[in-house]
Amino acid sequence: MTKRIFVVGAGTMGAGIAQLSAQKGFETWLYDLSADQLSKAQAGINKSLNSLLEKGKIDTTSHQAIISRIEFVNHLDDAQHAELVIEAIVENLTVKHEVFKALEGLVSSSCILASNTSSLSIASISSALKKPERFLGIHFFNPATLMPLVEIIPSVLTLEKVVSQAKEIILTMGKTAALCKDTPGFIVNRVARPFYGEALRIYEEGLADFVTIDYAMTSIGGFKMGPFELMDYIGNDVNYTVTETVFEAFYYDPRFKPSFTQKRLKEAGLYGRKTGRGFYDYSIEKADPSKEVALLHQIFNRIIALLINEAYDAVLMQVAAPQDVDLAMMKGVNYPKGLLAWAEEIGPNLILNQLEALYERYNEDRYRPNALLKDRVKAGKPLW
Ligand code: NAI
Repeated sequence: MTKRIFVVGAGTMGAGIAQLSAQKGFETWLYDLSADQLSKAQAGINKSLNSLLEKGKIDTTSHQAIISRIEFVNHLDDAQHAELVIEAIVENLTVKHEVFKALEGLVSSSCILASNTSSLSIASISSALKKPERFLGIHFFNPATLMPLVEIIPSVLTLEKVVSQAKEIILTMGKTAALCKDTPGFIVNRVARPFYGEALRIYEEGLADFVTIDYAMTSIGGFKMGPFELMDYIGNDVNYTVTETVFEAFYYDPRFKPSFTQKRLKEAGLYGRKTGRGFYDYSIEKADPSKEVALLHQIFNRIIALLINEAYDAVLMQVAAPQDVDLAMMKGVNYPKGLLAWAEEIGPNLILNQLEALYERYNEDRYRPNALLKDRVKAGKPLW
């Protein structure tokens, strides 16, 4: 059983992963080049643990034990003790290559090496290694201490044994593991794209304003946040970049085309909550949404149909098993239901009709119905 984890990069994700690791009983090292980042991470972790203590979620003994399990280090040498290294540094392939080359010279021969990358391929990072078969993607969601999902992504070279060991560690951390192919956006960042993209498209066509689109998705769909609230929360800089990266990685498949509306916000520095203004201006009260029932249903039906189409595509293309696709969206981005299960509830034929109507109207590939969804409708019963 793995007991020692070395986390590289003490930013948002690295600090969260290190805290989680220590909370779950692993001896943990958190490393960063920057002394400033390390002390910020230490202060953040202390604050978070103090709040757990105040709320009675942990007692004084375990609080002390967790703190004593994390060491904050500014040299890589301690990686030699680790059974698993999780890298969460800047999203830059050249820098990641340098770090993994250095790590490979330090770690034991049985140590598993992992990256938390969101957008680089696992194969491309592993190419820096002499032994790429012990390398894989272990993709946490933000905040890592709270979000239950972890995507596990083997490359074409990763050994089966490494995948099962990584999965065991993730389960020990109390997380839900979803196994996923080394493809752009993995599961969540691929399947979720239409939640943003189609909402933006509906807005750009002038069908409804931000607040009405958000209201349709929260009131009818039961989503915790509407697309525009969520983009503002994630940050339009981050969310736009993910969309653009996925679009490029899919060889410019029009399904993933980014929106000018969001690009302009990014260019103007209107990132969302963190800058005080994005789609919404947070210094003033939000306007009231339209309560026109037909319009709200039109918005919801359109966005959910595209999301379900994308979930079917992930299954068709063997990105993940149907159960993992549904689990990933519920546990990684808080969707109220798994999309494939939701399709069964709404009626796959209604989803297909919606997509066919959109495709006929626009003649654009982004609306082409997925072949597996068509198979499901033809079969007249669930495919799994
Ligand atoms: P961040 O910018 O908050 O932190 C990156 C940290 O890496 C910084 O503390 C920086 O000093 C450090 N760093 C940079 N180069 C380094 C090097 N050569 N050696 C050691 N430390 C170095 O970034 P964030 O957001 O935590 O992202 C880290 C990784 O996690 C990226 O690969 C990102 O794609 C991925 N990720 C990010 C998520 C998010 O919501 N922020 C979610 C899931 C994955």
